[in-house]
Amino acid sequence: MADVTIHRGLKEIYLDRTKSSYIDGKNGKLYYRGFNINELANNSTFEEVSYLLIHGELPSKSELAEITKWMADAREIPSGIITLIDSIKHLHPMDVLRTIISALAAFDNNLADESMDANIERGLSITAKAPSIVAAHVRLRNGDKYIPPNPNLSHAANFMYMLYGREPDLMDAKLIDKDLILHAEHGLNASSFTARVVASTQSDMYSALTAGIAALKGPAHGGAAEGVMKQAQEIGDESNTAEYVNNLLSSGGRIMGFGHRVYKTADPRALILKVDAKNLSERKGNPKWFTILQSLAVCMEPYEKKGICENVDFWTGAIYNLLEIPDDIFVSIFALARIPGWTAQVAEQLNNNILIRPLLDYVGELDKPYVAIEERK
Ligand code: ACO
Repeated sequence: MADVTIHRGLKEIYLDRTKSSYIDGKNGKLYYRGFNINELANNSTFEEVSYLLIHGELPSKSELAEITKWMADAREIPSGIITLIDSIKHLHPMDVLRTIISALAAFDNNLADESMDANIERGLSITAKAPSIVAAHVRLRNGDKYIPPNPNLSHAANFMYMLYGREPDLMDAKLIDKDLILHAEHGLNASSFTARVVASTQSDMYSALTAGIAALKGPAHGGAAEGVMKQAQEIGDESNTAEYVNNLLSSGGRIMGFGHRVYKTADPRALILKVDAKNLSERKGNPKWFTILQSLAVCMEPYEKKGICENVDFWTGAIYNLLEIPDDIFVSIFALARIPGWTAQVAEQLNNNILIRPLLDYVGELDKPYVAIEERK
């Protein structure tokens, strides 16, 4: 055993410097490219935030119009992709999204171009197409027809349109837009780290984004929103919450949507979405999920002093549920929101690349005798 310091889970290790986002975990603040997340959530659009993350600055009026149109035009997915989605529609939506993002490389006529411009364009094109993929999957597995994108709708509204087959209520669409903004970027989380590792080997954008999706799928990362709603459904009524929490925690379980590697106080995104979840449940006349989640949050208050607070995924499940979005695409929505963040970080990695290759301290045996197969039991 070498005399080395082990940083399990790479906790508190700085890998590099970034200008993409800043998380002040002690004070519960989040900035994209220097802009406070509250300002962006209240005033911006997902298209504008995608531009900001990828180009580093807010767009001018004409640049915003240009990127909005470009993304709207890039939403359509090839018919070969629709056939492929149909053939794997029995899979979990994240498995479908992961497979299809990888398969999109086959439809890229410019695949050999590994320039920064080409990679950024790929990231934006995949950002534009990801909602079409998720919506197409939901419709095909339900036996419904694929609905082509509507270029006159915003990115968020078009996603809902392709999902439901009807134009969404404007307030509902704005809420999804805000939710996408809040999920767009978040420092060196597990999926961004994974995307950077892949990029660092000088692999390609499709591989980096596919790997990011694979890392996001797990319940310790993006899969928590689905877990939150599962727990809320198991609780069933706020009168059961205290007993549920006690039983789960005393048996070593975890409350989904609580805790974060970086925030040791309230996650600012959760604070924003809590207000929206409350307003939405009032607007829809369905307070059930908000009430159960609120009671869960109250039961978890004693854990705040240990730094275990609500994270971004705690309220999103209730919002999606109230918007009649199926539970198993919650994490896919997180993924389609995070693509600009991954793209920005892959670009940052490639701009100053170094192979990411940490070490493992070997603690096994050495020089063991090799026994021929005939002589083994
Ligand atoms: N419920 C109960 N206890 C918790 C929770 C929770 N959700 N989260 C952390 N803890 C406790 C742990 O049991 C541990 O206690 P101990 O020190 O007494 O053993 C302590 O807090 C520290 O937990 P770690 O797992 O070491 O903290 P880590 O930073 O590695 O974990 C994580 C962060 C994985 C997010 C964790 O809080 C968790 O599993 N949360 C539930 C899943 C979840 O909501 N994931 C979404 C994360 S946010 C995102 O990706 C968008």
